[in-house]
Amino acid sequence: WHQRSELDDMADLSPELEKEMERLDKEFWISGEKLKKIVTRFRDELEEGLQENGTNIPMNVTWVHRLPTGKEKGTILTLDLGGTNLRVCKVTLHGDSTDLKDPSQKYTLDQEQYKLPGSIKTATAEELWTYIAEKLSDFIDQKLGGEYNDTNKLPLGFTFSYPATQERIDHAILQTWTKGFDIEGVEGQDAAAQLREKIEERKLPLELICVINDTVGAMVASAYNDHDTIIGGIFGTGCNAAYMSSVPSIKKLDPNDARLKDSDGHKSGQMAINCEYGAFDNAHRVLPLTKYDAQIDEKSPRPGEQAFEKFSAGLYLGEIFRLVLVELTDKGLIFKNAQSDKLRKSYTLDTGFLSQMEDDESRGFADTRRLFKDVLGLEVTDEEIELSRRLAELIAVRGARLCACGVAAICLKEGIEKGHVAADGSVANKHPKFKKRWAKALGEILDWEEKGLQEDPIIITSAEDGSGVGCAIIAAMELEWRAKPTK
Ligand code: GLC
Repeated sequence: WHQRSELDDMADLSPELEKEMERLDKEFWISGEKLKKIVTRFRDELEEGLQENGTNIPMNVTWVHRLPTGKEKGTILTLDLGGTNLRVCKVTLHGDSTDLKDPSQKYTLDQEQYKLPGSIKTATAEELWTYIAEKLSDFIDQKLGGEYNDTNKLPLGFTFSYPATQERIDHAILQTWTKGFDIEGVEGQDAAAQLREKIEERKLPLELICVINDTVGAMVASAYNDHDTIIGGIFGTGCNAAYMSSVPSIKKLDPNDARLKDSDGHKSGQMAINCEYGAFDNAHRVLPLTKYDAQIDEKSPRPGEQAFEKFSAGLYLGEIFRLVLVELTDKGLIFKNAQSDKLRKSYTLDTGFLSQMEDDESRGFADTRRLFKDVLGLEVTDEEIELSRRLAELIAVRGARLCACGVAAICLKEGIEKGHVAADGSVANKHPKFKKRWAKALGEILDWEEKGLQEDPIIITSAEDGSGVGCAIIAAMELEWRAKPTK
């Protein structure tokens, strides 16, 4: 057994189930040595992505040229289209005019969150943008009270957390949908232009200033208060990270682009890179693929894409768990006298299901028992609980260890030895053991123990609100930049 260290046995498994668990343990366990091999390949792909737009990691240029100073000010409306919700916020940044020691004083925020209707994932572009414009319009009517109009527009920042090619910060050609989205008519198109068109159609008093990725938002929002921030990472429905790169190492940028030159005409400065590393190993060279991973990929709207994300992100962990349970049921090893139609339904179990199981400290795992009853309509035996808990652990440990690989690869490539990885997303923030497992794996990859380090030099922190505050800061920085007399 590789991974059972954290569990107290609840019940013995039958010899057949014990054998299955041993097999699963082997399939899901990724040793420290294997992690290092994965990271070597990961570094190569990060590097390749900066050379050209390839088929693996896109390494998208974002036109965010610096981290904030903490002085940025302004009032911005932000729109966040994530995987699950749509959020609209009015953010007022106070900059350094308030008590710098208390981060909560640095901005005020008024927000509204809307749960995305399930049908939107397979809607059309027209339906998507109409829905979004309606919500923007509601927010303006309810919260802004006629303060803004055609001649006094409110700047708008858009957090669009999908891979996009940006020629400017207010432009975003969607490369491909990820996270199970499959909306017709947006791929290959400028999402910013599509949104702008709807805003104009409805005569909303908004001016779209920037389109950003959630990883960049997390990095910037966190750096506003914490200057040790080196990376913004999302470990949620999807899995991705951003960091600041030096401009000269982004080989795919046009050397003649005047925006990249300093006053002496040299290519210099920095640029945030949205790695989009959910696409790592799309060519299947190094990740140890199980049949469950293969099944997830085949049934997804974009087979062959987002290989790494399908192993490690919140959208898929519950589904991997479900697929194993279905297999064991079909083999006649569990749920022998019970039928569960719900268990047969794809994506019925989310990562929250696994988190709750791993979090369960109730007597006799009464909470887990209730969970199975409520979500799947199943009365489970002690043996089934034991098996499920072990399985949840195997899958979550693999995910956390893989998530450490992306960050390790960025740090090794960039020669970063210390700092804070500002993390957001449901897995990072809601899974009780993710951060600990992630940190352990990162230490194994970077040989911290061998180096005799007393403290972890690279630490995972909880990111500030990237898609709201981070997006507003980026819009404020952009407006400041535009207002400069010479660029
Ligand atoms: C997916 C998206 C990416 C986003 C991540 C986390 O990987 O492609 O843009 O950052 O999910 O939300």
